[in-house]
Amino acid sequence: MNNKEIVAQAVFEVVKENLTLSEVARLLENPKSVDHGDVAFPAFSLAKVFRKAPQQIAAELAEKINPEAFEKIEVVGPYLNFFMKKEVISSMVLKQIAKEGSHFGDSNIGNEGNVTIDMSSPNIAKPISMGHLRSTVIGNSISLILSKIGYNPIKINHLGDWGTQFGKLIVAYKKWGSEEKVKAEPINELLRLYVEFHEKAEEEPELNDEARAWFKKLEENDEEALALWKWFRSESLKEFNKIYGMLEVEFDSYNGEAFYNDKMDEVVTMLEEKHLLQTNEGAEIVDLEQYGLNPALIKKSDGATLYITRDLAAALYRKREYNFVKSLYIVGNEQSGHFKQLKAVLKELSFDWSDEMVHVPFGLITKDGKKLSTRKGKIVLLEEVLNEANDSALAQIQEKNPELPNKEEVAHQVGVGAVVFHDLKNDRLNNFDFNLEEVVRFEGETGPYVQYTHARAMTILEKADFVIDPEAVYAVNDADSWEIIKLLQSYPEVVMQAADQYEPSVIAKHSIRLAQAFNKYYAHTKVLVDDDQKEARLALVHAVTVILKEDLRLLGVHAPNKM
Ligand code: ARG
Repeated sequence: MNNKEIVAQAVFEVVKENLTLSEVARLLENPKSVDHGDVAFPAFSLAKVFRKAPQQIAAELAEKINPEAFEKIEVVGPYLNFFMKKEVISSMVLKQIAKEGSHFGDSNIGNEGNVTIDMSSPNIAKPISMGHLRSTVIGNSISLILSKIGYNPIKINHLGDWGTQFGKLIVAYKKWGSEEKVKAEPINELLRLYVEFHEKAEEEPELNDEARAWFKKLEENDEEALALWKWFRSESLKEFNKIYGMLEVEFDSYNGEAFYNDKMDEVVTMLEEKHLLQTNEGAEIVDLEQYGLNPALIKKSDGATLYITRDLAAALYRKREYNFVKSLYIVGNEQSGHFKQLKAVLKELSFDWSDEMVHVPFGLITKDGKKLSTRKGKIVLLEEVLNEANDSALAQIQEKNPELPNKEEVAHQVGVGAVVFHDLKNDRLNNFDFNLEEVVRFEGETGPYVQYTHARAMTILEKADFVIDPEAVYAVNDADSWEIIKLLQSYPEVVMQAADQYEPSVIAKHSIRLAQAFNKYYAHTKVLVDDDQKEARLALVHAVTVILKEDLRLLGVHAPNKM
């Protein structure tokens, strides 16, 4: 039970005649300052029933309420402020964590329902960008959070492996490319060709017609076009997999846009049958004016299909294949128009399940204040960023803990973890500037700080040779530990909140606050001193390690025992 539930129960016992338990629970507030206790009950709503001033009601209730779980109940004007009894709460929380370990906060709310998560989804023949990194790590964390509360997440990498850009690439490769160069450095070389195409096409616009013709051939399964496309795709995937390997992110499906090439006719037919398609300058569109949206372009005048046509086919396929209860798209904020159109077209087709499709947008990462775009070849290569982060972590570990035996492994966990954590700690819609030095610092609100705090707490347990006993009663009663107890106690709600909002930053922020509270506590308290509270304090330290580690796990970050 959390504090609110305990207070709700206690108040309910004395207002049974007038309010239900859930009505009482809804009225409870979190006081703004600790001076006003842990939970507050405003007596206003009882004024009418009792025909008395709320102040007087508050005073009378305070007399009647069973004080067992409370240090004190203070009456401040119309408010009842409840101060929880620390021993009661701490023993309850520590017992639960001792018993459940990292399963504390698990639930089966999801009922094993399938949730498809469209995530990462980089484009073939282009470097995986910081935006794709965001999608990858946010999607991965959401999948971990959802599975903690009983959903069955299905991670889909909707690769950008189809579209007119492949026409451009084929033209560029045939004109200026070489097999050896592509083999040696696939993405760099393919990107170079892509950039070269755009430069040359500015002077020779005919190149665009050639590109269109090649894409058309590709759509018609021309052998040469198909072979080149396959090759670009597999070389690109090899490089993407290096990044996924470093991040330890796996996918359940790599069905990208090309997968839907033979599944689009069905959608187009449905749209025709419902008379939703209109011809506009030779192109086929769906009018979405009643939604306040631009028309959705389904087919170009040359018959070529578009991004949204493939997304329509993908949505239908996913509903059939997985019968999802929710379908998430972890894609940058700049595509919100696209996802609104996608849902609107499905709505027009009377698919009610389109209500369960959620675009989970995120902000932009800039570097030195500038947007990162591939078109002009200005991109930050993700692999480089991750490698630099590892190097920086290694240098710091070398300095702090030169004796550590598995330095390289830990440096990897800290370096990559730092980048991931940094990405997840801000509300996902915030834009942020990427500065590696700041990301990998061991102090401040960083991943390494949380990891370091966890390792420090592990060392204390090791020193004390402490083994948690799930049957024992551990109760801490000192004021310094109270902040920690409350953060531990709130964990199940924190997990639920992160899941409801598809917001991993809720978890990251919890981990930072818990780490800060623990470090403050540790600076004030002699944990290892031999007195009758020693075991209880160690149980508290143990609980902190369990929850910090679980916080990090839900973000897709390791918690090394030593660093
Ligand atoms: N490949 C796209 C891009 O890089 C993202 C795809 C997102 N997923 C989707 N189903 N549209 O912009």
